Amino acid sequence: MTNRRDFICTTGLCASVLILPATWPAIALASEPLPRRQIPGTDDSLPIIGLGNSNAFRQDDRPASKALLQLFHEQGGAYVDCSGPSRFVVAEVARDLGIGPELFLGTYFTGEDEQRMRDNIRSLLEITGKEQLDLAHSYPEFALPNWQMFRRWKDEGLTRYIGIARHQSRYYDSMIEAMQTGTVDFLQVNYSPLETEADQRVLPAAMDHGVAVTINRPFINGAYFDRVRGHDLPAWAADIDCQSWAQLSLKFILSHPAVTCVLTETANPRHAIDNIGAGFGRMPDQAMRQRIVDHLKSL
Ligand SMILES: NC(=O)c1ccc[n+]([C@@H]2O[C@H](COP(=O)([O-])OP(=O)(O)OC[C@H]3O[C@@H](n4cnc5c(N)ncnc54)[C@H](OP(=O)(O)O)[C@@H]3O)[C@@H](O)[C@H]2O)c1
Repeated sequence: MTNRRDFICTTGLCASVLILPATWPAIALASEPLPRRQIPGTDDSLPIIGLGNSNAFRQDDRPASKALLQLFHEQGGAYVDCSGPSRFVVAEVARDLGIGPELFLGTYFTGEDEQRMRDNIRSLLEITGKEQLDLAHSYPEFALPNWQMFRRWKDEGLTRYIGIARHQSRYYDSMIEAMQTGTVDFLQVNYSPLETEADQRVLPAAMDHGVAVTINRPFINGAYFDRVRGHDLPAWAADIDCQSWAQLSLKFILSHPAVTCVLTETANPRHAIDNIGAGFGRMPDQAMRQRIVDHLKSL
């Protein structure tokens, strides 16, 4: 297993790389790619750290988007999850980098008419050079009434996987009900040491029904850092090869057995490198997971 120190040494992530974002993608080469986890019921797998819809994509900042995607790809990352116009930014930048077919592209569909959604998928495939979208998903309040449509897209080969995604516990019951149909490939929910409710029912249900799980809000959209600001990382974090507060949350998430991949949202190269580092080294056992929760609650 690669620890954080090895990770930094082997990737050449030195200070000059971080100071000069325009140059870091070219030299941030990992000797070992991100670990992957199997997508249940398939021979397919996903790298355990993914990218959410960062400001770089939302603001159509092409240099930042290019740097982010290139670094991510070089470290073995694949899953990018985005919605709206951002998905076309991601697709175009991936095409320009020549990595379109290698991305695992997940995107939301909400409320547009079906022909328009189909046209959007076809445009994404044309831009990226992919044969199929990887994941078409939506919020339960749109996905469930339109589930037959999502299933048709999958049957027709427009998308490989279909799923439901939300970040509030009031949706967990409908998500569990949907998973009971045996037709949901991917569930995306919020889960982190400060938002643990998903581990009561919805994550166990995903395991029971063989559903792949991606996690959103690993940092509660930044609120996690407000909680830990001004506090030193506890010395025992080193026991799980953890070198930052961000990694503590990500390692907690990744140590849940239901989790396939955690989505991290950042437009900052140092943060992206930090987040990818959480995929390496030791992961918390049950006692350590509880210690992380207790410690964060005490701050
Ligand atoms: N389906 C849904 O209902 C739903 C809901 C929410 C989110 N999501 C998905 O989940 C993804 C992530 O969730 P989220 O939007 O709540 O964001 P998040 O990843 O929980 O938090 C993002 C915030 O953390 C900061 N950050 C990231 N890495 C950091 C690091 N290593 N050190 C310090 N700060 C760091 C970012 O700032 P910088 O940019 O400065 O790094 C940003 O302010 C989204 O992009 C989206 O794809 C889905």
